[in-house]
Amino acid sequence: SEAELMKEGGTLISFIWQAQNNKLLEQLGAKRVTALAMDCIPRITRAQKMDALSSMANIAGYRAVIEAAHEFPHFFTGQITAAGKIEPAKVLIIGGGVAGLSAVATAKGLGAIVRAFDTRLAVREQVESLGGEFLELNFPDEDGEGTGGYAKTMSDDFIKAEMKLFAEQSFEVDIIITTALIPGREAPKLITAGMVESMREGSVIVDLAAEQGGNCTLTKPNERIVHHGVTILGYTDLPSRMAALSSRLYSGSIVHLLDEMGGTEKYTIDMDNEVIRGALILKEGAITCPPPKPKNPGPAYSVDTGSRPDKKKSSIDAVPKKETPRSSRMLIKMIALIAAACAMVYVGTNVPDSFLSHFTVFVLACFVGWQVIWNVTPALHTPLMSVTNAISGIIIIGGILQISQPEINATVILGGVAVLLAAINVTGGFLVTNRMLAMLRR
Ligand code: NAI
Repeated sequence: SEAELMKEGGTLISFIWQAQNNKLLEQLGAKRVTALAMDCIPRITRAQKMDALSSMANIAGYRAVIEAAHEFPHFFTGQITAAGKIEPAKVLIIGGGVAGLSAVATAKGLGAIVRAFDTRLAVREQVESLGGEFLELNFPDEDGEGTGGYAKTMSDDFIKAEMKLFAEQSFEVDIIITTALIPGREAPKLITAGMVESMREGSVIVDLAAEQGGNCTLTKPNERIVHHGVTILGYTDLPSRMAALSSRLYSGSIVHLLDEMGGTEKYTIDMDNEVIRGALILKEGAITCPPPKPKNPGPAYSVDTGSRPDKKKSSIDAVPKKETPRSSRMLIKMIALIAAACAMVYVGTNVPDSFLSHFTVFVLACFVGWQVIWNVTPALHTPLMSVTNAISGIIIIGGILQISQPEINATVILGGVAVLLAAINVTGGFLVTNRMLAMLRR
């Protein structure tokens, strides 16, 4: 009904779920509306600040554990008191996407024993880094990693083996939180009525996939039911149960999106901007989805660093490169080596001794610097900046020594430039280190 209120040629920014809402799309199209769907913001690194789907799933994962704790008639954490020993709660989380990882962190924070399962093996590292135990199946040839940080559909054998694992786990765990989903598909049915019945009385299942049909066969969307003493929650409004926080994060995402579109002054719909192009589903009434595939599929969320971009399939590699034949590459290398050797001989025989000693130190410094920095993995480049601070400090001292000469010459000018550049490096290094440490501080 709100679509009716849109003015002709207006712009709508909202969650739209166009695949499920064809009628709405037609209605908006008839009014020549330009529509940007928040649920279509591509999950690439650059777009994380606009990714409301992830920020809402993060809240949903947290709230799922809180709802489970509310229903669960025991402590989460284990205790040994004079009155007796209380075992910690055991929580199983199925699906380690944004919501799943948030649930792992929350349940762990409350003191439970947390186990998690996902078809994407990259999730193992993330679950373990949050203190959870990753359950694995013996299927070495099958990894659920799809593109863009999402999963792909698994084989029937895999799903069968997975369900056998859950059947075993349901005898042991007290709480199951399911978040398994492949975008655009109905949620896979992973928890059967039999599994529910094998759980202890008082156990809780929170089915986050309730809106897409649920991961548990007994889930009723938006309802709380009790089956054989097991409470099954199918709430689909978990972010709304923390409305102030959700609204704050959601509005933040929209502000970032508007900034990306040029803000108030330079507002434009840039079809070359992959974030805007991804979200744009209607342009002046014409359907513009699906968008071209994103070039740089990134992690699912900022806490999620493991969804590896598929190197083999990346569009950069898909473009056939003009290969230089091996023999000509060898020839170029040989010529470069001979030229370098000739230059060395010339320098060694023709330059004064004082220059030669400086030159030797310079070449060694280049060589050691190259070897040390080249082998550092990109993930460690930020901490590396702190180390380079120390090196820049030495450069500043060298520069200051050169500046302190009575008259201005090339050496003094170069010394000044060295001090300036190294000082920029030191300041930047401190700022980056400070931000990095702030991320680790609680
Ligand atoms: P996501 O796409 O980041 O994560 C889904 C995860 O499930 C992926 O890691 C995927 O590998 C995994 N998965 C897929 N098939 C699987 C299988 N057969 N077995 C095990 N794992 C499997 O999605 P996100 O953002 O974490 O959301 C999770 C669910 O929560 C979605 O269904 C979403 O609609 C729902 N949600 C529910 C809310 C509510 O109020 N109930 C609010 C926000 C999200």
